Amino acid sequence: MNILAIESSCDDTSAAVISNGKIGSNIVAGQLIHELYGGVVPELASRAHQQNIVRVVEKALKVANITKNELNAIAFTRGPGLLGSLLVGTSFAKAMALALEIPLIEVNHMQAHVLAHFIDDPKPTFPFLCLTVSGGHTQIVLIKDYATMEVLGETQDDAVGEAFDKTAKLLGLPYPGGPLVDKYAQLGNPLAYEFPLSEMPQYQFSFSGIKTSILYFLKKRVTENPNFIAENLNDICASVQHTLVRMVLQKLRKAARELNIKEVAIAGGVSANSGLRKTLHEMGEKENWHVYIPDFQYCTDNAGMIAIAAHFKSLKGDFSNQEVSPLPRMEW
Ligand code: KG4
Ligand code: ZN
Repeated sequence: MNILAIESSCDDTSAAVISNGKIGSNIVAGQLIHELYGGVVPELASRAHQQNIVRVVEKALKVANITKNELNAIAFTRGPGLLGSLLVGTSFAKAMALALEIPLIEVNHMQAHVLAHFIDDPKPTFPFLCLTVSGGHTQIVLIKDYATMEVLGETQDDAVGEAFDKTAKLLGLPYPGGPLVDKYAQLGNPLAYEFPLSEMPQYQFSFSGIKTSILYFLKKRVTENPNFIAENLNDICASVQHTLVRMVLQKLRKAARELNIKEVAIAGGVSANSGLRKTLHEMGEKENWHVYIPDFQYCTDNAGMIAIAAHFKSLKGDFSNQEVSPLPRMEW
């Protein structure tokens, strides 16, 4: 069984091939154009997907050494994501499936982030907890099986990835700033400055407070010393990252203790963050958890995760027909 998977929910155009559950290729083309605007411009993202998609799909097939005629199904991200971006991947998948007379498999982008854990060993056992942290989501999810996932709590405002990106913007760093905050944080003192942790009930999160406190903190310090940011960039990044990591991991620990679950995973773009990975490992040792952190290439948006999710759906015979259309606000 060979499946071609396409991911185009935001600003990465990606295609992957999976053969009998094994990833044969995972090609990602990013879109540098958004850097000029300090954030993803939806109209430009869908145009760039259109320009990239044929090349990315051809490369995924070539690297996997599979021809179009050897494909048995085409998978695509149905949602959640930007409508214009999703439309490019969905339309391409539908057209290709129609031409090759093979079935379609629709995939939920957030479920795919979680299922990326089943690409390589070691794999989590059910039920497990997953902290999904990306540019659009911050959730604690209970994963009961490949298809049954229950959101236990989530952010009430910004996602933690946005908190990273907005901090970067305030510091004058280019978009997407999360990876840069991570890079400078590795050289700084995480206890140099203190930012407030939010007090939210149960497994809920809020990141609007910390964003505002960073803004006021920087305004005050820059008024006192115009070079404050340049002189203290590493310490500022380290302190902000330390606070954000504590905010998400405290809630994850609370959920794991209350549900008495020892299998704990993270998923989504922010799971590439070095501070989060390190602190989660340390917490896991103390709490006696089995910790699962995806390989870097499967943290941020990629079609490999869409491919593995499609593999499990194909085993159940869960295919879609040509009537399918994107769902920008697709639920779990
Ligand atoms: O999952 P993803 O690639 O796209 C969405 O579905 O949103 O996540 C992108 C988010 C962005 O906010 C980006 O800044 C953040 O993940 N991110 C990071 C790191 N790598 C990506 N944030 C902090 N540290 C990183 N190393
Ligand atoms: Zn994502």
